[in-house]
Amino acid sequence: MDFKKLGHTCVVGMHWGDEGKGKIVDMLAEHYDIIVRYNGGGNAGHTVVIGDEKYAFHLLPVGVLNEGKFAVVGPGVALDVGRMLEEIETLAERGITVGDNLKISDRAHLVMPWHKKQDLLSEASLGKKKIGTTARGIGPCYADKMQRATAIRVIDLLNTEVLRDKIAGIADFKNTVFSAVYGDTEPFGAQMIIEEYKDYAERIANNVCNTTQFFHESMQAGKCLLFEGANGTLLDIDHGTFPFVTSSSTCAVGVPAGAGVPARTVQTNIGVTKAYTTRVGAGPFPSELEDEIGQCIRDRGHEYGTTTGRPRRCGWFDAVAAQYSAQLSGLTHVAVMHLDTLTGLEKIGICTGYQNADGPIPGFITDSSALEQAQPIVEYLPGWKEEIRKARSINDLPQAARDYVDRLESLIGVPIAIVSVGPERTQTLIRA
Ligand code: GDP
Ligand code: IMO
Ligand code: MG
Repeated sequence: MDFKKLGHTCVVGMHWGDEGKGKIVDMLAEHYDIIVRYNGGGNAGHTVVIGDEKYAFHLLPVGVLNEGKFAVVGPGVALDVGRMLEEIETLAERGITVGDNLKISDRAHLVMPWHKKQDLLSEASLGKKKIGTTARGIGPCYADKMQRATAIRVIDLLNTEVLRDKIAGIADFKNTVFSAVYGDTEPFGAQMIIEEYKDYAERIANNVCNTTQFFHESMQAGKCLLFEGANGTLLDIDHGTFPFVTSSSTCAVGVPAGAGVPARTVQTNIGVTKAYTTRVGAGPFPSELEDEIGQCIRDRGHEYGTTTGRPRRCGWFDAVAAQYSAQLSGLTHVAVMHLDTLTGLEKIGICTGYQNADGPIPGFITDSSALEQAQPIVEYLPGWKEEIRKARSINDLPQAARDYVDRLESLIGVPIAIVSVGPERTQTLIRA
């Protein structure tokens, strides 16, 4: 993998999120000039481990860790500005300054207090049919973006009159709706929210800009962009396992719209997957292991959510879904993470197809009800017993581990360029 030749690059998750995108973006960041979030918001939790230090990013691009790089919150992000400022403060306490290196799109939509409340109220009202959201207000924020009249953008923050007007009107509207629909008895006081957001405005004003213009000028000047996808391909609003998805474009096709660059911009699309599959929240998961093997993977891999702390559901590697993700995003490379987590298993399963009562089903199914009915067709490969976290080259891996990676590659149909054997930066093997 010749990092110098990758050009503008996008990193996306190939399954239902938490694949290890944070680690890969961090590893790549030194080769780029600008690291960009283009979708999602505080639902994301991207972990970076450097030595004994562990960082969890929700709204800030991982690139803020690299000196001399720009980090951009693009137009497609649902921005919880209060949480982002908390992230900045937490980093400052650890000696990392986020200043002029952060650029925030004036077009990004703001997550408001009513979005988070609506997320909770809606989930509670759905009962057993709930999506299992992260409660970060993502769906309601994007819904208001599409609705338009009830949306507030970053640019509105910078005009006190507009901000005051919008908050007063929308708070009133939301109070009426929440009371009528959900029987809510705790209305929002607009004045407090206005003061809170005026304070945010002062704190981020210098970072806000027309990021589209910034990208285009930077690209003309020969700078290289790295797009940090949030969530995972199967959570994509259009192409995921609807309705058990998030509300943004999570795969590489979301980059042009979410960042504001032409579709031909991105030359390299890197898909990130675990050596098995996980999912948080509700929805179909054909290769899920609801047994002691699933628990063993959860324990060894510390599979608990970075954002919500919820236990992640674990299962065998879903090659059908991975192939689908590779096609959708036009993946050029794949990074396989958590190979170390599978150490010690006698045999390792790979879901190579789905079937139902009528027989095999071709390809991936995005309809949740149909996918719920699908049974996995599982192929088993021998496991390995050797600890591999200290491996530093592919040749350090036991033969069974190398065979497993080879098999994943032939099923996905895209070169596996990176294999990860631990959370730390150095626990990364470049394969091709
Ligand atoms: P993201 O949302 O895709 O960035 O992934 P998360 O950060 O939510 O979850 C990935 C978790 O796996 C984090 O705790 C990482 O530190 C950890 N991790 C990443 N790669 C590896 C790996 O190869 N092995 C192990 N054991 N942990 C890893
Ligand atoms: P990263 O970037 C894992 C899931 C939620 C839920 C569904 C909808 O860390 O990989 P939302 O709050 O977005 O309305 O929730 O999507 N989800 C994620 N799962 N990792 C994520 O992000 C996720 N972002 C959303 O668990 O099932
Ligand atoms: Mg995550």
